[in-house]
Amino acid sequence: LGRPGKGRLPFTPIAPVGASVDAVVVPDGYRWAPIIRWGDPLFSKRDVFDPTRQTAALQERQFGYNNDYLDIIEGPAGLGALLVANQEYTNESIMFPPATTPEELDEQRRVAIAAHGMAVVQLYRTRRGKPWTYAVGAPLNRRITGNTPFTFSGPAAGSALLTTVEDPTGTTVRGTLGNCAGGTTPWGTVLSGEENFNGYFRTAGTSAADLRYGLADRATSRGWESVDPRFDARNPGYENEPNRFGWIVEVDPLDPHSPPVKHTALGRFKHEGANVVIGRTGRAVAYMGDDERFDYLYKFVSTDTYRPGKSLRARRHNKTLLAAGSLYVARFTGDSPVEEITGTGALPSDGAFDGTGQWVPLMIDGVSQVPGFSADQLVVNVRLAADAVGATKMDRCEDVEPHPRSGRVYVVCTNNTDRGKVGKEGATEPNPRSGNRDGHVIEITEAGDDAAATTFGWSILLVCGDPATNTSTYFAGFPPEKVSPISCPDNVTFDSVGNMWLATDGAPGVIGYCDGLFKVPLEGPERGRVQQFLSVPAQAETCGPVVRDEESMVYVAVQHPGEDGTWAQQHSYFPDYVAPGTLSGGRWGGPRPSVVQVWKP
Ligand code: FEO
Ligand code: CA
Ligand code: CA
Ligand code: CA
Repeated sequence: LGRPGKGRLPFTPIAPVGASVDAVVVPDGYRWAPIIRWGDPLFSKRDVFDPTRQTAALQERQFGYNNDYLDIIEGPAGLGALLVANQEYTNESIMFPPATTPEELDEQRRVAIAAHGMAVVQLYRTRRGKPWTYAVGAPLNRRITGNTPFTFSGPAAGSALLTTVEDPTGTTVRGTLGNCAGGTTPWGTVLSGEENFNGYFRTAGTSAADLRYGLADRATSRGWESVDPRFDARNPGYENEPNRFGWIVEVDPLDPHSPPVKHTALGRFKHEGANVVIGRTGRAVAYMGDDERFDYLYKFVSTDTYRPGKSLRARRHNKTLLAAGSLYVARFTGDSPVEEITGTGALPSDGAFDGTGQWVPLMIDGVSQVPGFSADQLVVNVRLAADAVGATKMDRCEDVEPHPRSGRVYVVCTNNTDRGKVGKEGATEPNPRSGNRDGHVIEITEAGDDAAATTFGWSILLVCGDPATNTSTYFAGFPPEKVSPISCPDNVTFDSVGNMWLATDGAPGVIGYCDGLFKVPLEGPERGRVQQFLSVPAQAETCGPVVRDEESMVYVAVQHPGEDGTWAQQHSYFPDYVAPGTLSGGRWGGPRPSVVQVWKP
C-alpha cells in the first residue's frame, strides 16, 4: 500500500450554495476555468461549435455532452496529460432550437448519438500547478460515440445471446451509451460503466429479463429507433441488441486506433463504474455497483495475475485480465437485533451500523455457480442470477472505490426513497433508513486485507443529510453541527494523504443546496468531518472528481447544468456566461457541460 503524499490544498469550507445559484463557487484563494466544453473541437479548429447549426458529422469531431467520469493522466514531467472523460447522455430540449421538420428532428437524434460516448484529449501547460490548455488536433485525441465499433470479451463474446443481423458472430457492437462513472486501471487504461442503457431501446418487454432490466414495449423518449432500426429490438434480427449494452467498457487512451472492449465477464447491469485494485496474489479485482433501487454490489476477480511494469508486453497482458475470472455479489449481515434498526437512522445500541459479509460466487474462473444459468446466460442476465443467490438489496450503489493506502472499500449509496414503502423491503442494518432521501456511505474491510477475499467486515461511515434539519445524520461520530450539509453522494476519489472526496448528485431537490464536492478525512480526530470544497451551477451534478492536492488542483466534470430549462428559457449559462442565445468568440449563451479545473494562483 502506498505512502502518504505531500498533501496541501488548504481551504476554508465554502458555505452551502442555494439551489438556484448559477455559478461555480470555490474557496477563497482559488480560481476556476473550463478545460473543455460540450462542442469544443478535438481535431480541427474549423469544426466550430454553433448549437443552432449543429450536425452529427460535427458532433463526432467535438467534445460530447454531459461529461461524467473524468481522469487527468499526467505524463512524467507533469507538463502534458491525457484528459479522459465519458459522456453519459443528452438533453435535446436545451441543446438545440426545437426541430421544425421531421428531417431536422432525425438529424438532432443523430447528433445525440454522436454526443454520447467518451473522449480522450491531450492537455499541455508550461509549469506544474498551472491550469491546462487542451490541444486541438493532438495525435491521441479521440472521440468514441454511439457509433464506434467495440469488441466483446469474456463468457458472452460469441454467444447466441449477443448476435444480431449486423453482427451474426456476437463479437462486435457499435457504440457505447449511458456511461456514468469509471476508473483508471493500474495498467493505465480507463474503464467506464454503461448505466441506464434500457432507456435507449424498445423491446417486446415480456421476458423475465426484460422486466428485471426495465426494458419495455413503449416508444423511447429519445426516438432513436426512427433513425436506426437496432434501437427497436422488436425489429427482426435486432432482438438481442439491448443485450449488447449494460457492460463495463475498457479504453486504452494511448492507443487511439484500438477498438475499445466491452468485458462481459463483469456482468451486465446498470453499471455505475468499476474500480480496479490488485489483490495480494496479483489478481485484478474490480468493484462495481448496480445503480438501481434495491439492486446489488458486485466484485470481479481475474483468473490471471497482474504483470507490473510499463512495458508494452506487460500492458498488452494486463489488458486481457478483465476477460476471464470470477464474479461475486455481496451479502451483508448486520450484527444488531433487527428491532433496533428502526428506519429512522437512529444508531442501534452497539453504536454502529456494522457487521460481516460474504462475496457470494456467481461464476468462478468462468464457470457458472448458479443452477439454471450457463456462463453466458449468467453474465448477460446477472441480476436474475444474483436474485437466485439472495444478494443484499442496496440503496443504489454508485461509485465503489478501494482506498489506495488502507485498501478499505467505500460503497456510495446515493439514496432510495422507495425503501420501506408498501410492498418494498424496509430498513436493514446496511441500508438503515426508510425513505432514504440523502444516501449513505459504507466502509468495507476485506478479510486479511486482500481484495480477492470472499468475506469482509463493514460499517457505515456516513449517513448523509443536512444536520440542521435532519436528526438522522451520522458522520463517523464527528459532531454533526460542525460539518457541511451533504446529500446524495455519488462519485468518490481520494487525495494523496488519504482523505476521501465525495461528489454529489441530487442535493438541490433534497436539501435545497447546489451539488458539490466535499472532503472527508478518514483517520484521526477529523474522521467524518465533511467539508465542502466547491459547488456547481444550477441543476448541475458534480462528477468525476480528481484531486491533486500536491499541487493544490482539483478537477470536476460539471454535468447537466440547467437541465430543467428549455431552449427558449435556459436555466444556466455556465460556463461561458454570455448573453442568452448569443455566440461570441466561441462562447455560447446557454449551458454547456464542461470539465472544470480549480487551482490556487
Ligand atoms: Fe449516472 Fe448512477 O449515476
Ligand atoms: Ca451494529
Ligand atoms: Ca453517477
Ligand atoms: Ca447519480
